[in-house]
Amino acid sequence: MTVKTLSGLLDKMWKDYVEINPLAQKISDLFIQDGERVENDHIALRTFNHPRLNIDVVARPFIESGYKYIGDYHFPEKKLYAKHFEHADKNVPKIFISELKIEELSTKTQVLINGLVDQVPKGKELEFDFVSSGRPWNVTSLQYRELLKESDYAAWVAAFGYRPNHFTVLINALKNFSDIVILNDYLKSKGFKLNSSGGEVKGSKEVYLEQSSILANNIEVTFQDAKLTVPACFYEFAKRYPMKDGTLYQGFVAASADKIFESTNSGQ
Ligand code: NI
Repeated sequence: MTVKTLSGLLDKMWKDYVEINPLAQKISDLFIQDGERVENDHIALRTFNHPRLNIDVVARPFIESGYKYIGDYHFPEKKLYAKHFEHADKNVPKIFISELKIEELSTKTQVLINGLVDQVPKGKELEFDFVSSGRPWNVTSLQYRELLKESDYAAWVAAFGYRPNHFTVLINALKNFSDIVILNDYLKSKGFKLNSSGGEVKGSKEVYLEQSSILANNIEVTFQDAKLTVPACFYEFAKRYPMKDGTLYQGFVAASADKIFESTNSGQ
């Protein structure tokens, strides 16, 4: 079914996301059973900075639906750049889109990634629901392993393509878990594994944002030549603090996001 509206697109993205990340559905269900209201702070998407598929191309359906560009972030070590977008309707999530700077990778990897992008049928990237269409290219398990040597991020995009990397529960909207440490302990008691890179809690009240995330669950992905079990998507949790003017901080913190990216690293 063709999706033409923002609410239709957000619904499709959630359904697609929980299908490959059943842990998110499980956590969301646990909250709802406890009488909580699960509010989504942001959705994260990943891409390459290739002119056909860069952040601005991926952002198109959101801009068309009224989202505005708000801020950008640099991750030099991971060779990533990101932008975040917000909608005037505060009931819809922020959108965080990152891109891998392919010109900073080895020539061999650049050739491999350009070969993937060249397989995308002309104009497909301009379809409204492209961001929820999955992998638009064929890729072999050997190519996946090659990419993994240089960038976990590149390997993830090659394997999964265009679908949410993560959704994020807004802690502020939860009644019983206003403290991120208590929430983390609860998640661990239920058997979920947290990303502990840089500590389980990323950020602080001083930077107006605390974040944590569970590690991506591994799923079996069918590559052109073989099946491999690889890290898929994860669920994130964010607590926002008021700034001096009293309004909740709505941006992101690069140092924290840098560690959150590692939730999909292999060998966690
Ligand atoms: Ni995030």
